[in-house]
Amino acid sequence: MAKHTIVIMPGDGIGNQVLPEAIRVLRAIGFDAEYVHADIGWECWIKQGNALPERTIDLLRTHKVGLFGAITSKPKKEAELELSPALKGKGYQYFSPIVSMRQKFNLDICLRPCLSFPRNPLNFIRKKPNGGFEEPKVDVVVFRQNTEGLYAGVEWSNPPQLVRDALRSHSKFKPFETVPGGDLAISVRIITRPAARRICEAAFQHARQFGYKSVTICEKPNVLRETSGLMEEVAREVQKKFSEIPLWSTNIDAQTMWLTKNPEDYGVIVASNLFGDVISDAFAGLVGGLGFAASGNIGDEVAVFEPTHGSAPKYAELDPPIVNPIAMILSAAMMLDHIGERDKAEKIRTAIAAVLAEGRVRTYDMMRISGGAKSIAQGAASATEMTDAILAQLGAGVEVGVGARIGR
Ligand code: NAI
Ligand code: MG
Repeated sequence: MAKHTIVIMPGDGIGNQVLPEAIRVLRAIGFDAEYVHADIGWECWIKQGNALPERTIDLLRTHKVGLFGAITSKPKKEAELELSPALKGKGYQYFSPIVSMRQKFNLDICLRPCLSFPRNPLNFIRKKPNGGFEEPKVDVVVFRQNTEGLYAGVEWSNPPQLVRDALRSHSKFKPFETVPGGDLAISVRIITRPAARRICEAAFQHARQFGYKSVTICEKPNVLRETSGLMEEVAREVQKKFSEIPLWSTNIDAQTMWLTKNPEDYGVIVASNLFGDVISDAFAGLVGGLGFAASGNIGDEVAVFEPTHGSAPKYAELDPPIVNPIAMILSAAMMLDHIGERDKAEKIRTAIAAVLAEGRVRTYDMMRISGGAKSIAQGAASATEMTDAILAQLGAGVEVGVGARIGR
């Protein structure tokens, strides 16, 4: 019997192209695992009225570790239109299976490393004061609270009277009291102390374990006094247990400015759900963008690893596939870190670093050409060729530690 069982959820679109590439790499590295396929995404919604089937939930509950590709999701009305005729009008409601998965298993810690690989042509560069350019090394890990905040899902269009009455008890609601229901939409930002503590502790522990020089809490407490205020308060409390690591505090708006002025100043960043989502995408843009952005959704029991990109439907039918599999492969490496196979994870990252440093094999995104069938004729590598190059580096027995360390 294999040592590990991994639930694989390719999902929709390019999820089906990149996830098999990651498995090729896992196999090549000698990861002793059995893979169990589980359905997720748009096809499940159309056929079953549920984008996250019970069987998938059961498999995750049993095996605890999942690798996930990407899903397609569409707005409410479109979702209803595409539902299979037999299910229409039966009250099925579309929910994002990723959000459901995070909430169901309390995958409340979202970990998103953003590390620049040397010689990646997509790395951020900046002008030097005296001419020429410099390429600051970015090594940031964003800890995003994954289950609460503005993504908790407590929201209304045309809020019911009870909600309006409750809101009326707040003096700041006065200007909105007379807005007709149909013209009013409300999303609630919920932060709880225990969840804030868990994400802040995870951030500090990571900083300590991997030697990051600071933790930054990135919120907006001067305006969102209650919710961001609680995040800040908890971060300050938690910092007391990690006295060697300073806690910095930035506002989300200012942080998006600072990250292009001096991204090298930041180490670990911790934020609530929406702000963490924003800031991790923004940092990912400095180190190669969607083709390089990996993530882990980690709970006490279950953990699911995924690239942050979506299903990119416009490329999903291309043969050969042209998308960059690196984000998915880096996500698989993060999975290895999580289950105690760190050496193997490092080998994968070192092989990727070697391919990037060599610069011979590049997918279309790395060449800054538009994607599409013709990108291959323009010299872009296919997803498979990129993986082949990584496999060749693994076969060549690259020295661990030579390249970048990511996913820490
Ligand atoms: P997307 O991430 O699927 O694609 C945006 C664009 O980024 C693509 O058109 C392509 O140009 C580029 N891109 C994405 N992944 C790439 C890769 N691996 N290599 C090279 N280029 C890549 O986002 P979009 O187009 O906004 O959404 C498409 C669908 O995906 C939607 O249905 C959306 O709801 C869903 N989505 C799912 C996510 C998930 O499964 N975690 C996250 C984001 C979007
Ligand atoms: Mg996002």
